[in-house]
Amino acid sequence: MELFFITSNDGKVREAKKFLEPLGINVIKKPLEYPEIQADTLEDVVVFGLNWLKDKVDKPFIIEDSGLFIEALNGFPGVYSAYVYKTIGLDGILKLMEGIENRKAYFKSVIGFYDGEIHLFVGEVRGRISNEKRGSHGFGYDPIFVPDGFDKTFAEMSTEEKNSVSHRGKALKEFYSWMILSG
Ligand code: IMP
Repeated sequence: MELFFITSNDGKVREAKKFLEPLGINVIKKPLEYPEIQADTLEDVVVFGLNWLKDKVDKPFIIEDSGLFIEALNGFPGVYSAYVYKTIGLDGILKLMEGIENRKAYFKSVIGFYDGEIHLFVGEVRGRISNEKRGSHGFGYDPIFVPDGFDKTFAEMSTEEKNSVSHRGKALKEFYSWMILSG
């Protein structure tokens, strides 16, 4: 089966390919721009995107929206993660966290699948913000996120290892399980 992934993020595509291709789903990147509305939830962003894209692209396709939610910052950057990454970046987040003892955070991923209808698949991973940047793999906030049960950041993991615990890996697993069940 061929599945279009509408995104310009190579890191997301690499993770989806690593997970889905051994299962017989050929992921094809389509770097098409679509409006990412400013909304309160990732789910709202994804539903808007799917509705905007559904008559413009080949089916079936997925999009994905994700965010990093830091407990001590009341969930910031959350739905603003992409903007915050581009502006203050990892150093800005580490600076905001200086002197804060509670470093708990979670990542959330929402995958939207369109095959004539809208389907959402969600994954979350809990962890903490490291004291410094570590590792060179992955993308985005990976160098400062340590998932629960590990001492290394996502950026110190291979794609396979990250997928086995990550928010996106979990959402991809939900998606694949649903595909199998719905035939
Ligand atoms: P978006 O889903 O493309 O809107 O991404 C939101 C922000 O979170 C971007 O700055 C991404 O780089 C970052 N991000 C999304 N997923 C991950 C991840 O798996 N690891 C690290 N950063 C991520």
